[in-house]
Amino acid sequence: MKQNTVLVTGGMGFIGRRLIARLAQRTDVTSVVALDNFHPQVHGETPDKSLDGAVVEEGSVSDRVFFEGVLERHDPDVIFHLAAETGTGQSYHEISRYCNTNINGTAHLIEGLRKLPDKARRLVLASSRAVYGEGAYRSSTGEIFTPKPRPSETMAKGVFDLYDSFGAPATPVATPEGITLRPSSIYASTKLMQEYICVQGLDNTSIQPVILRFQNVYGPGQSSRNPYTGVLSIFGQQILDGKVLNIYEDGEIVRDFVYIDDIVEALMLAAVSGNVDDEPINVGSGVSTTIRYAAECLLCELGATKKNLRISGDFRPGDIRFALADNGRARTLLGYEPKVNLETGIAQLARHIKSERSQR
Ligand SMILES: NC(=O)c1ccc[n+]([C@@H]2O[C@H](COP(=O)([O-])OP(=O)(O)OC[C@H]3O[C@@H](n4cnc5c(N)ncnc54)[C@H](O)[C@@H]3O)[C@@H](O)[C@H]2O)c1
Repeated sequence: MKQNTVLVTGGMGFIGRRLIARLAQRTDVTSVVALDNFHPQVHGETPDKSLDGAVVEEGSVSDRVFFEGVLERHDPDVIFHLAAETGTGQSYHEISRYCNTNINGTAHLIEGLRKLPDKARRLVLASSRAVYGEGAYRSSTGEIFTPKPRPSETMAKGVFDLYDSFGAPATPVATPEGITLRPSSIYASTKLMQEYICVQGLDNTSIQPVILRFQNVYGPGQSSRNPYTGVLSIFGQQILDGKVLNIYEDGEIVRDFVYIDDIVEALMLAAVSGNVDDEPINVGSGVSTTIRYAAECLLCELGATKKNLRISGDFRPGDIRFALADNGRARTLLGYEPKVNLETGIAQLARHIKSERSQR
C-alpha cells in the first residue's frame, strides 16, 4: 500500500476490527483511524472501546461537522467506508434511521473528502449483495432474469421456489454484477444509494471509488448481541442456550457464506489494485450452502445434535431464496480467491463463540 493514512468508518465493528488488525501488520501503513459511534445494538451499553493499532474517533457519520472534522484532521489516503445500519428486516420499521446513517453518512463522507487537498485517494465501500434482491435466475427458455420478490400468499402455502413468466420453475445461478437490480428492503436500497453517491459524488475528482458487494460474511467477532444480523452468530448463541433452531421455509434457503478473512483480503486488495474501475465487484465464497447444512455444521461443532433443529415452514416477507456470487470480476480485477471453506470457517466461529461464553 503506497498510501499511508487509512480511515476505517465502522472500524469497531465485525469487519472493521478484523481489517484494522490486518492493517496494523503492514509496515507501509503509518496510521490507522477507526471512526465509530459504538452503536448500542452492536456493542451493548458498555462497549469495549480499546483497540490496538488505531486512533479511535468516537462519533456518528450522520454528524456532518464531526465527520468532516475527522477527515480534515487525518487527511486519509485510503478510506474504508463500513459504518452502517445493517438489519434488513429492521430497516422496514426504522426507515429514517437507516437513511440517516447509510445515505446521509455517505453524503457527508463524499462532501468532506471533496474539501480535502486534491490528491490521489481511494474509497472502498462495503456494499451488499442485497442490492440484487433475488439475484440471477435462468428461465425455462434459457434467459437470465431477476425475479420479483416472492408473494407472501404463495409462501404461506409452502411454495418457496421461484418461477418464470411462463409459470415454469426457474433455476438459480451465480449472480453477476450487471444483472437488473431489485433491492427488496430499505437496507438494500440504502446500500445501493451509497454506491451511487460514491461513484457520482467522486466523478471528476482524484479519488477512486471501489464498490465491493459482500455476500453473507461470518466468522469470529460478529456481534452476538445484535438480533438483526449474522444468522450463524445468532444460531451459535441459541445452540449454547440449549434452544432448538428454527430453520425457515423448507430448510433449503441458500446463502453464499464468506469467511471474514476472505472479506478482509478483498478489502486489502481493493485498496491497492491498479486494475479497478467504478463498477461494483461481488465478493463471496462462490459456494452455495443451504441454511439447513450450515446449521447442522454449527450444531455438530458445538456438540449438539440435529434434533436441535426444526424445519418450520415459517418465512419472512422479503427474504430471498438463493444467494450466490459470481466472483469473476473480483478474480480478474483484484486477484481475489476465497480460501476458507465453510467447514473450517464454522469450526473457527464455534471456537470463538465457546470461548466468548466461557469468559462471561
Ligand atoms: N456482515 C455482513 O454479512 C455484510 C454483508 C454485506 C455488507 N456488509 C456491510 O459491511 C459493513 C460492515 O458490516 P459489519 O458486519 O462489520 O457490521 P457491524 O454492525 O459489526 O459493524 C458496523 C459498525 O458501524 C458502526 N456504526 C453504525 N452506525 C454508525 C454511525 N451512525 N456512525 C458511526 N459508526 C456507526 C457500528 O457501531 C459498528 O461498529 C456494513 O456497511 C455492511 O452493510 C456486511
